[in-house]
Amino acid sequence: MNSKSVLVAGGAGYIGSHTVVELINAGYEVVVVDNLSNSDISSLEGINKITGVKPTFYNVDCCDKGALSEVFKRHDFNSVIHFAAFKAVGESVEQPAKYYRNNLLSFMNVLELMVEYGRRNVVFSSSATVYGDADELPVTEDTPRKPATSPYGNTKQMSEDILRDSVRANSSLRGIALRYFNPIGAHPSALIGELPRGVPNNLVPYITQTAAGIRECLSIFGQDYPTPDGSCLRDYIDIVDLAKAHVAAIDRMVEERGKESYEVFNIGTGRPVSVFELVHVFEEANNLKLNYKVAPRRAGDVPAVWADTTRANEVLGWRAERALVDTLKAAWQWERNVRGIE
Ligand code: UFG
Repeated sequence: MNSKSVLVAGGAGYIGSHTVVELINAGYEVVVVDNLSNSDISSLEGINKITGVKPTFYNVDCCDKGALSEVFKRHDFNSVIHFAAFKAVGESVEQPAKYYRNNLLSFMNVLELMVEYGRRNVVFSSSATVYGDADELPVTEDTPRKPATSPYGNTKQMSEDILRDSVRANSSLRGIALRYFNPIGAHPSALIGELPRGVPNNLVPYITQTAAGIRECLSIFGQDYPTPDGSCLRDYIDIVDLAKAHVAAIDRMVEERGKESYEVFNIGTGRPVSVFELVHVFEEANNLKLNYKVAPRRAGDVPAVWADTTRANEVLGWRAERALVDTLKAAWQWERNVRGIE
């Protein structure tokens, strides 16, 4: 098997496309599968412009095991990164079966095919959502997971468990789950970035769309939380830094550096930032005023969560590097590119 080749499932999406760029920059050959259900084929053009490489692409749904197995037959990648999942918390509450079916089936298909075709290393996209409303902050990887409050969150917990058990059962497999905090921003080239469909659920796309005049006003959900300024605290991680964490995880497995065959890492900055602070840094970074108002709390939001990143720093040799101000400049530059704003 080719240890310098990686299959990226969901590689046309927001986190996937940035990760493909960093893998190519690190010398990996990349095969992308994506069903384009929440992504756009144009991201592959962006990847090509940034790296000079057009990754091999298959429009394949990972829930279609037959189609996915053809990709395994054709290519000799020894590693897989699995991003191919739905991620809207609210939608998952309304349509739980859709989330369980897609997120679990696609990942189980990947794992079964890896065993069948003798492929070794897998990275799973997990989330800080597994910690829920944690009793102690910052959270370490050993902080107990709380019962999930949404089907989306439950698929992350279940997928972590499926990965752990699969690795335990198959000595040929190694797995790393990366628990992302809040990924934001865009590639500094502004050639790839986040493309939310419809009204954005997440804070930064809502901010950039408000600045672009597509949304009238940002609602800040709650200013009565037990935090210094009353708004929620999150750990916002730059998308390029996050992408590089995947390369570090693949490198670690390819080089057989870990003693444990299943490992978990928090991927964040380790710094809590409030919603008000984020809005103000965005305004200062881009020299503009944002239309915003305070609104009631959003159901399901935890007051605060941020990462202890010691394990990722020491074991993966990875750390977040980009300053928030630069991340928010890139987010705005990307939005302007997409909208054709000078
Ligand atoms: N927020 C606003 N206004 C908005 C959108 C968000 O004030 O229009 C606030 C939220 O209340 C929260 C913060 O901005 O305090 C961040 O909200 P996001 O929706 O951007 O991110 P979340 O922390 O809610 O969600 C993220 C991921 C989820 C994951 C969750 C828990 O997007 O996939 O973290 O780890 F489940």
